[in-house]
Amino acid sequence: MNYFAHITGWGTSVPANVITNADLAKIIETSDEWIRSRTGIAQRHIAEEGQSSASLGAEAALKALKVANISPHDVDLIVVSTSSPEHLFPSTASLIQDRIGATRAGAFDLSAACTGFIIAANMVAQSIRSGAIRTALVIGTETLSRLVDWEDRSTCILFGDGAGAFVLQASQEPGGVLSAVMRSDGSGGDLLTVPAGGSKLPTSYQTVKDKQHFIQMNGREVFRFATRVMAQATEDVVKKANFTLDDIDWVVPHQANQRIIETAAKRLKLPLERFVINLERYGNTSTASIPLAAVEAITDGRIQPGDRIVFVGFGAGLTWGALLAQWTGPLPAEKPKMWPYRLHGLYRLYVKLRSWGLRIVRLVEGMVWGQRDK
Ligand code: COA
Repeated sequence: MNYFAHITGWGTSVPANVITNADLAKIIETSDEWIRSRTGIAQRHIAEEGQSSASLGAEAALKALKVANISPHDVDLIVVSTSSPEHLFPSTASLIQDRIGATRAGAFDLSAACTGFIIAANMVAQSIRSGAIRTALVIGTETLSRLVDWEDRSTCILFGDGAGAFVLQASQEPGGVLSAVMRSDGSGGDLLTVPAGGSKLPTSYQTVKDKQHFIQMNGREVFRFATRVMAQATEDVVKKANFTLDDIDWVVPHQANQRIIETAAKRLKLPLERFVINLERYGNTSTASIPLAAVEAITDGRIQPGDRIVFVGFGAGLTWGALLAQWTGPLPAEKPKMWPYRLHGLYRLYVKLRSWGLRIVRLVEGMVWGQRDK
């Protein structure tokens, strides 16, 4: 049987807290004019205490499931792309699985920086097309503000926090994800990196003192790399699906810098109007930026069912990639879902109680086993 992987649900979540360029100019030597003219960014959303990559990702995921009219229990797999996970382990995907009560789902994180959402969507699409799974959540979620040195004016102006999620579902109707390209060049790994906190440079007094747990970036080199690969990946993914650029309705690029997007548009000889751009209000939210932009264009009616869309990204690694999809929208419901959406607040309470219940059962079991061992 031939299966196609359709994008049938979408959702986003951003912290309410906004930091404008003028706010930044109060803490570092910069100006609204400098930031806008070099990047196109005017403001960014920054997570407050208590918000994290898992909490933002879970919110986005629940919204996406609601659009797709899918219960969390129907999800087979959750793939979370993030460069700011909650921990080295457990995976942020597992924490989101628990928060949304996706009781049947497998879950793992994928690390490919700002390209991650495209790679995650492609991997999930391939699993659906093979017949291995039917329904999956792809989530891009970041709280990069926690990895930014707020005294480094060359990086702290760029990044913001947020999350976006897609539901992908199997259907025998042609459409959905049509092609993808995934590339990497690890020789450029040092151009954009968080050097410490991993196995090479474990946390120590010295690494913290040297600020090696913060993002370090060679902005000019990353800029040069990005302008080159964005156009190339877009052309490659379109060609791979036997289309030409004229067949493409929308390009949803990684929202890093207005000038990078403009350069790519020029190289592709495409009008900027065919690009979905919202980085002015969110900054660079890394792997969340593509779904954040896409959902905005779906919600305001620019993206319509049947449209062909190229999602294209680049980032640390170095990594880059693109994915071409024919837009679908929600599939007809197999059966009406009365809950959890009608009882949203109660559902949240249920998943919390469920999670605590499982912890208590584990505790009691541990005590019983401890008694037996004596
Ligand atoms: N405000 C004011 N001046 C700033 C500044 C800021 N926020 N940040 C840097 N500057 C200064 C620099 O210190 C430098 O001053 P100098 O000439 O006296 O040394 C000057 O501005 C030019 O710096 P430069 O780094 O050459 O600027 P740029 O035009 O390359 O712009 C970036 C810097 C970071 C905006 C740009 O390189 C960029 O966007 N790169 C891509 C980054 C990216 O997208 N990363 C994420 C990839 S997923």
